[in-house]
Amino acid sequence: MTERVALYPGSFDPLTNGHLDILSRAMRLADHVVVAILENDAKTPLFSVAERIEMLREILRDNPLTPVRSFSGLLVDFARESGATLIVRGLRAVSDYEYELQMALMNRRLAPSIDTVFLMANEEYSYLSSRLVKEVARLKGDLTGLVPDAVVRRLAAKF
Ligand code: PNS
Repeated sequence: MTERVALYPGSFDPLTNGHLDILSRAMRLADHVVVAILENDAKTPLFSVAERIEMLREILRDNPLTPVRSFSGLLVDFARESGATLIVRGLRAVSDYEYELQMALMNRRLAPSIDTVFLMANEEYSYLSSRLVKEVARLKGDLTGLVPDAVVRRLAAKF
């Protein structure tokens, strides 16, 4: 039987426990879930792509079914290269929906055989975003329970 591969793309700047929650749900849908970090300096990330790869690999090191890669160019091209037939995105609230719908429909037009599936994060993470995590870290707030320890440590080193 052929293995089902899903792609979980994003900026992951940095990864949050909400991302990890989506990833664990995606693992139930596919044999492998490739975590795909977008290489996009236009977003002026806090962590370089190399730092994010290292951080995610450390966090996911016990799980060989979730390889971490980076990509540039079109997501659907990277999905094809990876042998993925599913793209996974998390939805937190209705406000995420419009942007996500546009991306999913554009991706489907570009690659009709690849489907996007939306997974709902646990409601305890519905307000959580990488942007707010960075803001709280910058202002020395407590991030316990919101991001993995490896992220807390690296945020502390940045600020
Ligand atoms: O975590 P993010 O920043 O919301 O992730 C956005 C991401 C990486 C999924 C999106 O920007 C993306 O897929 N970029 C690749 C470029 C692309 O394929 N664009 C056309 C599809 S709409």
